Amino acid sequence: MGNQHKVINSNTMNTDIIIIGSGAAGLTAALNLAPHYKVLVLAKGGLSDGSTAWAQGGIAAVLEDGDSFNSHIDDTMVAGAGLNNRAAVEKVVEHAPEAIARLAALGVPFNAEADHLHLTREGGHSHRRIVHVDDATGWAVQQALVKAAEAHPNITLITDMVAIDLITGRHCEPYSGESHVWGVYAFNRKTNRVDALTARVTILATGGAGRTYLFSTAPRGATGDGIAMAWRAGCRVSNMEMNQFHPTCLYNLEVKNFLITEAVRGEGGILKLPTNGHRFMPDFDDRAELAPRDIVARAIDHEIKRLGLDYVHLDISHKSAAFIKEHFPNIYARLLDLGIDITKEPIPVVPAQHYTCGGVVIDLDGRTDLPGLYAVGEVSQSGLHGANRLASNSLLECFVFGEAAAQHIRANWDRLPAPPKIHAWDESRVTDSDEEVIVKHNWSEIRRFMWDYVGIVRTTKRLERASHRVELLRREVADYYGNFRVTPDLIELRNLIEVADLIVRSALARKESRGLHYTLDYPDMLTEARDTVLMP
Ligand code: FAD
Ligand code: SIN
Repeated sequence: MGNQHKVINSNTMNTDIIIIGSGAAGLTAALNLAPHYKVLVLAKGGLSDGSTAWAQGGIAAVLEDGDSFNSHIDDTMVAGAGLNNRAAVEKVVEHAPEAIARLAALGVPFNAEADHLHLTREGGHSHRRIVHVDDATGWAVQQALVKAAEAHPNITLITDMVAIDLITGRHCEPYSGESHVWGVYAFNRKTNRVDALTARVTILATGGAGRTYLFSTAPRGATGDGIAMAWRAGCRVSNMEMNQFHPTCLYNLEVKNFLITEAVRGEGGILKLPTNGHRFMPDFDDRAELAPRDIVARAIDHEIKRLGLDYVHLDISHKSAAFIKEHFPNIYARLLDLGIDITKEPIPVVPAQHYTCGGVVIDLDGRTDLPGLYAVGEVSQSGLHGANRLASNSLLECFVFGEAAAQHIRANWDRLPAPPKIHAWDESRVTDSDEEVIVKHNWSEIRRFMWDYVGIVRTTKRLERASHRVELLRREVADYYGNFRVTPDLIELRNLIEVADLIVRSALARKESRGLHYTLDYPDMLTEARDTVLMP
């Protein structure tokens, strides 16, 4: 019954390499592969709809004499509470200066002073080492990558194409039990049909799963599609309980997910109680506002719950208006539009989900468990972030792993077989949905219970409650998926419930508090740091 991967009513297309995702990770891989192969890049909406375009603070790199790779490595491991894979950390940190040089060569207009790049500071970093383009770094990076990709004759960019499931041996003719990945089935919003796209190699670069939570700084499309697709196809996923909450998302009843960059604290912003102006962070950590994010987010959550507040204040108004406008022109203008003049008054802020530290398990070449499938960027778990990502390390991970995966593919191209004959998508046994309300309702229900029960501070009881709800919704969504024609919302809902399940199961499996996973039932950290690995 239901949506099957068989004959009828669908387009097929074959190419050398398919990259699912047009953010920093996907386009970096594409630009590295395009001189040698035909590359198809898919985006489920517009090319710049992912998190990359929304990044504010910048990209971490050791570029100054007083700084060192060891210091960046140590800061990353301290933030990650020792759960990081040191080899991955070293790889990313040591390749950072080259990655920045390549972006500059592509035309990213990094802020500079005299003969060197301006470096800002963010929490958890013991040096100024964040290169940036004002307070809208991601937008500048995304535009430079898109421009280069559009100009390359070997890269085809396809928007409005929602990947549904990876194509493996069971979708081949004749059927095979092989787990090799040969491409993807994707819903084409322009034709309302499902296309079968095949290739020798598929790269997942689909970003994170922030929208599993009610409040998130991530864009609407961050529904964990790549993690869910890889899991269904047979990949391991790990550390899914490690969801990063950014301490300072704007509290505003109209605008629900506007980030206030950590660089505001890096440049002197102070967190205060709105009731009496008390600067509370020194009560929690010697590093005060510049402690790693998990600590700052928990402190804010604690104060909000203790005093029954809606938000706390982030205040940078003690700096000169010229300084604020120069460093944060976009935040200044956006908040002024909302009636807040940050040169004169504090900003109301709350924590919100921000980054998915867990994901599809990859090795140092971006390889997943399945032949023919790579994963890069936020969709993956490379070992870089451990239990808590250090600020501005994730764009960097996209550039370093995007390139590493491309290099590995090039080195092994001759050993990669061409795809066999693939079944087209069959929707002969499904009908159009008669109750779209179910999809909408279940979307909100998942995000609400994940926020309430699987948030910044957890307990086993709350996680078990979440687990029961996941079970009920899983059945309902599976039934719906089995009977009705796919739509983009249904595809995302199916992935959201899959990812919610992975997060809850991982959180229940970790019997300690470490980094982003904090539970009142196991408040201590165990001596040995171990990944939570879920087997398909
Ligand atoms: P994304 O940029 O999210 O791209 C995902 C791509 O996958 C999109 O093209 C999307 O269309 C596509 N896609 C997803 N699902 C499907 C599907 N089913 N079918 C087809 N296509 C699909 N990190 C830093 O290092 N520095 C910062 O300053 C910083 N600031 C941030 C600010 C905000 C507000 C947010 C939300 C994040 C920030 N981050 C920052 C994190 C960083 O932006 C992301 O981790 C990074 O951009 C992820 O890049 P990516 O290429 O993996 O995915
Ligand atoms: C920020 O600008 O605060 C976000 C930086 C990041 O997520 O790395």
